[in-house]
Amino acid sequence: MHLSTFVNFIGLGLISTVCGSPIATESNSNKASSTFDESSRATISDEMTWGVAQTPNILNDTAVDANAVAKGYDLVNVSQTAHGLAGILKLNEATNIYGYDFDCLNLLVEYQADSRLHVHIEPANLTDVFVLPEDLIAKPRIESNNVTFDTSDLVFKYQEKNFGFSVIRSSTGEVLFSTIGNPLVYSNQFIQFNTTLPKDHVVTGLGESIHGSINEPGVVKTLFANDVGDPIDGNIYGVHPVYMDHRYDSNTAHSVYWRTSAIQEVVVEEEALTWRALSGVVDLYFFSGPEPKDVIKQYVHEIGLPALQPYWALGYHQCRWGYDTIEELEEVVSNFKKFDIPLETIWSDIDYMDGYKDFTTDPHRYPLDKFKKFIDDIHGTDQHYIPMFDAGIYVPNPNNASDIYEIFHNGNESDSFLKNPDGSLYIGSVWPGFTAFPDFLAPKSQEFWTKTIKDFYDKVQFDGLWCDMNEASSFCVGSCGSEGYLQNPAKPNFEYGDVSDTYPKGFEQSNASEYSSIQQKASSTSSAASSSTSISDSQNTIAPGKGNINYPPYAINHAQGDHDLATHAISPNATHYDGTIEYDVHNLYGYMEVNATYNALLEAIPNKRPFILSRATFAGSGKHAAHWGGDNTADWAWMYFSIPQALSMGMSGIPFFGVDVCGFNSNTDSELCSRWMQLGSFFPFYRNHNTLGAISQEPYVWSSVTDATKITMNIRYLLLPYYYSLLHESHESGLPVLRALSWEFPNQRNLSTVDTQFFVGDALLVTPVLEPSVETVKGVFPGSGITEIYYDWYTHEQVDFQAGKNETLEAPLGHIPLHIRGGNILPTQEPGYTIAQSRKNPFGLIVALDKNGGASGKLYLDDGESQEVESSLFVNFVALNNTIVSSPYGDYKISEPLSNITILGVNEKPDSVTFEGKDVTYTYENSTLFVTDLNKDSKDGAFDKQFTLKW
Ligand code: GLC
Repeated sequence: MHLSTFVNFIGLGLISTVCGSPIATESNSNKASSTFDESSRATISDEMTWGVAQTPNILNDTAVDANAVAKGYDLVNVSQTAHGLAGILKLNEATNIYGYDFDCLNLLVEYQADSRLHVHIEPANLTDVFVLPEDLIAKPRIESNNVTFDTSDLVFKYQEKNFGFSVIRSSTGEVLFSTIGNPLVYSNQFIQFNTTLPKDHVVTGLGESIHGSINEPGVVKTLFANDVGDPIDGNIYGVHPVYMDHRYDSNTAHSVYWRTSAIQEVVVEEEALTWRALSGVVDLYFFSGPEPKDVIKQYVHEIGLPALQPYWALGYHQCRWGYDTIEELEEVVSNFKKFDIPLETIWSDIDYMDGYKDFTTDPHRYPLDKFKKFIDDIHGTDQHYIPMFDAGIYVPNPNNASDIYEIFHNGNESDSFLKNPDGSLYIGSVWPGFTAFPDFLAPKSQEFWTKTIKDFYDKVQFDGLWCDMNEASSFCVGSCGSEGYLQNPAKPNFEYGDVSDTYPKGFEQSNASEYSSIQQKASSTSSAASSSTSISDSQNTIAPGKGNINYPPYAINHAQGDHDLATHAISPNATHYDGTIEYDVHNLYGYMEVNATYNALLEAIPNKRPFILSRATFAGSGKHAAHWGGDNTADWAWMYFSIPQALSMGMSGIPFFGVDVCGFNSNTDSELCSRWMQLGSFFPFYRNHNTLGAISQEPYVWSSVTDATKITMNIRYLLLPYYYSLLHESHESGLPVLRALSWEFPNQRNLSTVDTQFFVGDALLVTPVLEPSVETVKGVFPGSGITEIYYDWYTHEQVDFQAGKNETLEAPLGHIPLHIRGGNILPTQEPGYTIAQSRKNPFGLIVALDKNGGASGKLYLDDGESQEVESSLFVNFVALNNTIVSSPYGDYKISEPLSNITILGVNEKPDSVTFEGKDVTYTYENSTLFVTDLNKDSKDGAFDKQFTLKW
C-alpha cells in the first residue's frame, strides 16, 4: 500500500501521511500546551532540587571492600528445633566499615516445606532495627508439622568458626548457595553476604530494570524504587528481591528471596553473587523447584497469588498525556469507532485535573456535567474509563483564601500524611506544586483514603484507577515545601511537553524527507546550556542508632544523576505515624498505596474486582495490581526490553503487565508503532500511551498501523477465552501468562538467553520483529521435528523447522510470526468491538495435534467481574485417536453456542465427521480439518454438557 495516498479526516485535523509519518495538523501536532494556565504558577527554585552528589561505592576504586576487612561471626549455642535449628552469632571483631557492627545475632533455620527453606538472622537487640511486619508483606510460614530435614529437598549445612552456610539440593548433592569463605557483615546500615555461583550461571530476576532476561557477570542491580524514565540497567519503579538460578548441569532451578524492603544492591560476578542491604534483617527463603515453572509457582504462592483481573481489562486500552479536553477524549473514542478498531478503555492522565490536584476535575476543560455524560456514554457502549492520580496531595496556599482543597484538609486533620523527623508536615513537590504524601501506616489513613476515593467515585464513575508517581516521587530534595508551600501552586523547575524532533532509529530511512527538514531546523537552533543539579560530593559518616539516614555511608548506584536517595523521591528521613522512617520502607510506598486503594475500591464499587494499574511495585503487588513498564522511549530497544521486563514481572507475581505501546518518551513513527501495536497485543495488558508534546500515536493515525493493529487485535480478541483461562491459572497457581522459552524447555541450555521470543501460555510462540527496516526475523523453535510440532497461525501449516537452529521467518511490515505448539487446544470466541460484545458471540476451538495425534486444553469462565465469584465453569478438552471430548464442570451458565472446531495436523481427509454421533459439515485443506456450523448442535450453550467429536 502507498501510504502517501492515505488521507483521513480526524476531528478538527486533517491528517495525511507521507512515507508513513504523520504530518502535523491541529489534532496531531506536538501537544506542548499546558492543561491550565501554567504561566501564572511560580516555579520551584533550582536549589530545591539539588541533591548532594554521592559517589556510588561500586564506582569508587578506593572504596573499602567489606569482604576483605570484616572479621565475621562465630556460631555458638546451636540447638535443634522441631523444624530446623537455632543458634547465636557472635561478632569476631568490630570493623564498622559502613555502619556499626552488631555484636550478637540470632540465627533461625526452618525447613518450612519440602521445597522451601528459611534462614533468618537478626540482631539480638532489635532496638533501631526495622523488622518488616508480617501484616504488610506476607511471611512464608511452616507448612506442616511433618516437614523436617529428612523430607526436605534442601539441606542446610553450616560452619561454626567464621560462620558461613550452604544450601544443598538433597537429590543431587549440588551446592545451591554458599556463603562459606566470606564473612557475614551485619551493621546498622550495611548487611552483606555472598554466595558462590557456578561458572556460566544463568541468573534471572532481581527486577525491576530495563535489561535482558539474564543477569550476566558484571551486572549490578540496585533495588531502590525510582521515578526515572526507564534507563537501561538503572533502578526503576519496582523492587523484587528474588532471583532464580537455573542450572543446566543438573537441569534444575531454584530461587532465593530476601524478604526485605531495605535499600539493596546485588552484584553478579563470574562465580559469585553479593547481596547488600542498608537496613533490616536477613529473612531468606530458598525455593527448590526443581523446574523453573515450579520455582516461580512456589515463590508467587508465598508472596501472594495474582489478582484475577476483570475480563474487560483484557480489551484494548488507549491513553496519552495531553488529551486536553473532554471533547478530545470524545473524539478519540469516536475515531476508534470510525476506523473500527476495538477500544475497551479510554484513560485520562493528569490532564483532567484542576491544576493537577488529585481527584479534582478542571471546570473548563473537563466540566463535570460533560464529564459525567461522557462516562455514561462510554458505559452505554460497554466501554470503560480509567483516570490517573499521583501520590502527592496538593498543599493549599494559606495566603490565598480561594485555594481550598478539602482532600488535603481531610488528610491533615486525620493525621494521615508523612512527617518530618520533628513532627511537622513533610512537604515535597509533584505536578500541582508542593504536596503532602499519604502515610499508609497511619491508623486513620485507610478511612481517609476510602472517603477520598468514594467521594471521587460519586463525581466520576471510573472503572479502575491508575496509581502513578508512587515510588513515591517528589521533584525536590527533602521537605522543600515546608516553607515553599506559600508559593503554591508552583510548577516543577524542569520543562516538559516538548519532544519535538526526536524519532526512533530507522526514521531517517523510512521518513527521509521529514528527517532532513528536522535536521536543517536543528542545525539552525543553538542548544540550551545544561545546568548542574547537585552540589559537592559527600563523605558520609557512620552514625549509631538508625545511622546516617539521608546519606548512608554505603552509597548505592542509584540511577539519578547525583545518586542522592532523595532526588526525585520522598526523602529517607520522612517519618511515618508509628515512627518508621521512609528509609526502611521506601520500597513499599507504592505497594501500600495500592493496598489502600484496593480496599477503598471494594467499598466504592462493591463486589466488583478492583482494577488498579500501579507504577511502583514490590513482592506481592500482583495480588492487587496490574503494572506497566513506566516511561519507556519510542525506540526499538525499548520495544525489545518490554519482553524481558514482562518475563521478569511474570516471575515476580505480576502477570498483568504491558508497556506503553508505540513508546512514551519521544516521538514514535509508523514503522515502530506498527510493529509495537502487534507485539503489544500479545501482552496481558495492552495499552498505547504517550507523553505530552509527542505526536499522536493512536493506531488510526497511520493506515499501515491501523491495518497491522486490526490483524493482531482480531487474534487477541479471538483468543480472549484462552487469555482469561491463563489469567485464572495464574491466579490459582502463580504461573505467568507470558513465558520464557527456557521455562517451557528447561533442559535446553541454548534457550537460556532467548528473550526476543516468548510463549503465551504454553501453546503460542510469538516471534516479533524488533528492529527497523527489515522484512525477516530470526527465531528458534524448541524441540521442532523431534518432540514438538509447530503450526503457522495464519496458514495452519505445520512448519518444517529444525530444533536448535535459528530459523529465518518472513515478517514484512504488518505481519508478526505466530506459531501454535502442537498438543494444545485453544478455546476461542468470535471477536466483537468490545469485550461485552465478544462475550456474546459463538465459541470455537483450535486443536493443534502433537506428534501422536493428541492435544489437550482448558477453559475457565465466570461473569468476569465479581469479586466474590459465585459460579464458574471449567472445561477440559482432550483429543486423542481422532476424537475430541469436552468435560465441563461448574455452575456458570453460558448460552453462546460452539460454532466451529479447527483441527490442525490431520493427515488424511476423513470420510465423515460426527458431533455427538451426528454427521456434521466440514472441509479439509492443508492437513487442517474445519468443522463448521455446529451452532445448532450446541444451542443450549457451547459447554452445557460433555460433547464428543470424531473424525
Ligand atoms: C509519569 C507517568 C506517565 C504520565 C506522566 C504524567 O511520567 O509515568 O505515564 O504520563 O507521569 O502524568
